[in-house]
Amino acid sequence: MRNHLFFLSTDSHASPFDMNIALDAGFDVALPYVSVKEDDVEGLTHDIIFSRGPKGTKHSAIFVGGSDMELVEKIVKRAGDSMFDPFTVSIFSDPKGAYTTASALVAKTRKAVGGLSGKKIVIFGGTGPVGQVAAVLCAMENADTTIVTSRDKKAGEEAAVKISSVYGVSIKGAAARTGEERLALIQEADIAIATVKAGIQILSLNELGSVKNPLIVADVNAVPPSGFGGLAPGDDMKQIATCVKGIGALCIGFIKYKVEVDIFKSMLENKITANFKTAYESAKTLA
Ligand SMILES: NC(=O)c1ccc[n+]([C@@H]2O[C@H](COP(=O)([O-])OP(=O)(O)OC[C@H]3O[C@@H](n4cnc5c(N)ncnc54)[C@H](OP(=O)(O)O)[C@@H]3O)[C@@H](O)[C@H]2O)c1
Repeated sequence: MRNHLFFLSTDSHASPFDMNIALDAGFDVALPYVSVKEDDVEGLTHDIIFSRGPKGTKHSAIFVGGSDMELVEKIVKRAGDSMFDPFTVSIFSDPKGAYTTASALVAKTRKAVGGLSGKKIVIFGGTGPVGQVAAVLCAMENADTTIVTSRDKKAGEEAAVKISSVYGVSIKGAAARTGEERLALIQEADIAIATVKAGIQILSLNELGSVKNPLIVADVNAVPPSGFGGLAPGDDMKQIATCVKGIGALCIGFIKYKVEVDIFKSMLENKITANFKTAYESAKTLA
């Protein structure tokens, strides 16, 4: 039987990025369902699990993606609740690539610094999907402090409260609208991470040159300019200023690709439910 991936997206399109990786990993076909709402899921799931009989369930799987992280999680729950033995299939969620990207980012940074326990970590652009998941993973690694920043103080604080409550971790919020605010945050940090919108530079090389404490920076933005001045996408712990070493977006993106392939391959071998915790476990072995 051919291996079918049913791609349920909360957006008006299904990401070609994820489709490419699913096909590279061994799925024969990826079938997109777009603008999926919670109430669509039971019917879609029943059509997926019943159509090919119990033996066919090994050859059908569900991927849930899209920008709406909360809706993705609701869809995953509804799909799971709509299945029963022997009519169960694998489900993998990765909203806007955030689970695999944040996993690769945090696992790579963790390895580079020899563990995140006790570290002071600032995540610029931490209100987006990648930043939120990265914050959860840092907090789960017992970072001393994990701060998510926003251009808007209230938005940063609200995001921190929400993430802390949903995932049972302790995260702080801060404003980082001006260069002064951003510099003040990194002067007190061990690690600064950029998960801002693509193509936005958060700190220039000149600003990084003023840092007096040892600082590791990591960036997931592959669209020029990089999130940190002087950091090239392929850099792997490169010294970019006197006290600053950096990890670039391609270095992290390469691990993200391997994690996503790894999970898609696992779905072809066993029935699994994969989320950000699965992605992080995989990333820690692949980083
Ligand atoms: N390397 C990889 O494999 C990979 C994979 C997926 C994604 N990515 C990258 O990961 C990054 C984060 O993705 P995402 O989807 O989480 O990002 P996003 O939602 O597009 O943006 C993240 C945050 O950036 C802030 N932001 C927006 N415009 C800004 C501006 N002009 N100046 C400063 N901050 C601004 C916003 O925060 P506030 O409005 O609260 O300030 C927003 O919440 C992106 O650069 C994306 O390209 C990389």
